[in-house]
Amino acid sequence: MRFSTSLAAAVSLSLLSLNTVYGYGILGHTLTGQVAQLFLTPETARQVKEILSPYYDGLLSKAAPWPDTIKGQPKYRWASIYHFVNTPGDNPPQECRFEYVYAGKDVVNGLFNMTSQLYQYKLVEPATPEEKSIREDALRFFVHFMGDIHQPLHASGKLRGGNDATARWGRAKSSLHRIWDSQMILKDIKDRFDNNPKAYLDDMVDMTTTVWRQEATNWTICDPSRNVGDNPWSETTQLFTTLCPMEWARSMNELDCTYVWKDYDSTKDYSSDYFDNVTGEKSDFLVQKLITMSGVRMASILNEIYDPPESESVPDSVRFVKQ
Ligand SMILES: *[C@@H]1O[C@H](CO)[C@@H](O)[C@H](O)[C@H]1NC(C)=O
Ligand SMILES: *[C@@H]1O[C@H](CO)[C@@H](O)[C@H](O)[C@H]1NC(C)=O
Ligand SMILES: *[C@@H]1O[C@H](CO)[C@@H](O)[C@H](O)[C@H]1NC(C)=O
Repeated sequence: MRFSTSLAAAVSLSLLSLNTVYGYGILGHTLTGQVAQLFLTPETARQVKEILSPYYDGLLSKAAPWPDTIKGQPKYRWASIYHFVNTPGDNPPQECRFEYVYAGKDVVNGLFNMTSQLYQYKLVEPATPEEKSIREDALRFFVHFMGDIHQPLHASGKLRGGNDATARWGRAKSSLHRIWDSQMILKDIKDRFDNNPKAYLDDMVDMTTTVWRQEATNWTICDPSRNVGDNPWSETTQLFTTLCPMEWARSMNELDCTYVWKDYDSTKDYSSDYFDNVTGEKSDFLVQKLITMSGVRMASILNEIYDPPESESVPDSVRFVKQ
């Protein structure tokens, strides 16, 4: 994993204002894209910019929320069930079960599909404007699905991923899903970072070399043989050393038992002790950690596609150093 400072300035310009009214989950997706951008190599960043429409200024953070904005369009109706994955028998917090089969249409499949498309278009450049637009869609879906798969409630079907799990947030009525999608992130930025998302982002990047240093070197390690089976994209996805959506979903699903659904009680105020636990030191800053993992992994896959390391060089995971 290589770190590029050249883009830091461009990224900070795109930081969204918290005063603007944004839809559900946009902040989280924006942050995953911002983290990723900082870990792209200059060459990857250049190619990403070429693929995206000029509107995005080459920024993954601006492209990341897109799949949530086109859900109603007939052209994209196929995509809405690719934002999450449910597995049979799963019932947090009593039992977190993630036995994945390559049968359904879900976020794991979606990530294989999009990565594979991006890889194929890297081998054979799009020949028509239509193919170019398919490639841009694949990149936007890829970035978005990488965010979704790191939100634990997108890896458990219980009560529609917690959408139907009512929960109290201060004096307001909310849902477990909404609390994880946006409310905890917003409150954390407000409480600890003076309402400044840039400071929150900087803190996450810092923690990759401090609090999370040990484990962060593992985030991008993945054995391609884990992707075999009925996986229809086996051939291309096995070429990747950092693409492991099944493993990621499994570990997110475990968090549903250890943190997310633990002691679920619709009458308790989730903006109090629960919030402190999952955003603070006790959990190694879990909410921030998931966003960061998503961004770091996203960047490493894009680097593998657009700027692969020389064959004789050390594995990508070893190069997880800020320069
Ligand atoms: C892969 O993604 C495309 C959209 O890019 C979609 O039309 C297709 O159904 C997906 N394939 C599978 C097998 O999910
Ligand atoms: C990193 O992965 C290795 C091998 O899978 C494991 O033994 C080690 O405990 C992991 N380190 C951390 C800090 O998670
Ligand atoms: C917070 O974490 C502590 C253990 O670290 C646990 O005892 C407590 O039940 C948790 N509180 C909530 C509301 O999750």
